[in-house]
Amino acid sequence: MMIRQSPFLLGLIQTSISKVSARCLTAQAASALQENEPMIRHEEYAADIDWNNLGFGLRQTDYMYKSKCTKNNTFEQGQLVNYGNLELSPAAGVLNYGQGLFEGTKAVRGEDGRLLLFRPDQNAIRMQIGAERMCMQSPSIEQFVDAVKQTALANKRWIPPPGKGSLYIRPLLIGTGPILGLSPAHEYTFLVYASPVGNYFKEGTAPLNLYVNNEFHRTTRGGAGGVKSITNYAPVLKPLLRAKEQGFSDVVYLDSVHKKYIEEVSSCNIFIVKGDVISTPSTVGTILEGITRKSIIDIARDLGYKVEERLVAVDELMEADEVFTTGTAVTVATVGSITYNGRRVAYRTGDGLVSQNLFKRLVGIQVGKVEDKYNWIVDI
Ligand SMILES: Cc1ncc(COP(=O)(O)O)c(C=O)c1O
Repeated sequence: MMIRQSPFLLGLIQTSISKVSARCLTAQAASALQENEPMIRHEEYAADIDWNNLGFGLRQTDYMYKSKCTKNNTFEQGQLVNYGNLELSPAAGVLNYGQGLFEGTKAVRGEDGRLLLFRPDQNAIRMQIGAERMCMQSPSIEQFVDAVKQTALANKRWIPPPGKGSLYIRPLLIGTGPILGLSPAHEYTFLVYASPVGNYFKEGTAPLNLYVNNEFHRTTRGGAGGVKSITNYAPVLKPLLRAKEQGFSDVVYLDSVHKKYIEEVSSCNIFIVKGDVISTPSTVGTILEGITRKSIIDIARDLGYKVEERLVAVDELMEADEVFTTGTAVTVATVGSITYNGRRVAYRTGDGLVSQNLFKRLVGIQVGKVEDKYNWIVDI
């Protein structure tokens, strides 16, 4: 008798095969399975979502990675667990004193079917630097990268088809130990979860309209603006929401001392182009050292552009030929206009932009289409 199997049934059959190939699961995860941890089903079939309208919102995926650090200042071997809520003491360091760091990286599906990460070791290093600044324990670079790989593979049915977006991966380090007096927590939890995403800005790939805010500052010299501390993000919500209410895409922040030099945007770095020179604010502890920022600097120099990292006055921004922003979530986004002190300037957009040239090269490397001579891509 012929039994016709529906795609759904086929999917179920595939998922029930618990043979975990070495390619699907690292040794760490495999040993976690032996210790009666949840069975990680590496579904081959794609999640049932509209890949054409992803946007940048949280979509719950199947698994997350979890590891704790209590005694000896070392993180235990982490494990994949079902994605879900955490249980925290009300006195947890992260809730009371903001001991928390996050990272953002992404996994993409290349046209040849490979699953690729972009420079996850750089996120690991940045988390370590942030942990040192915030008096927290941090996982080793190896554990961080392994955790990112495990999370991407366990949730691979959520990695969008080529060209439709990416699986945004969010490593999180939080002080979970209870603490009453102001001091570092005694326990830290390292988590990695993921969500499929499309474009960061609602504008999609259309040019952004940015607003220069000279009232609110993101950070100041000696603060923690150079690390990816959770405490840097709530303060920008007010200027960001105000700008969005007025129809802007995002905010450009100025330095808090002179109110004259541009720093960065709420969640991305900024570049200006004037003539054949590309300039970006130097990293002196008040802006985040973006991984995309430094990748773009390398790519631009290799393409023959002159790149300067220096103080960039807001007046120069207003006189630039071209402006663009960079970040993991935004990749390279062209800026169409800037509004500052009631004056709006529009920049050239369309074909032949420096930002488009850089965008194509960066994304080409990220999706495995352009030769990766830098060794940035991690094939998982
Ligand atoms: C404040 C801020 N600046 C810049 C960036 C860009 O950094 P990256 O290129 O590493 O994503 C981000 C995003 O991570 C950010 O939150």
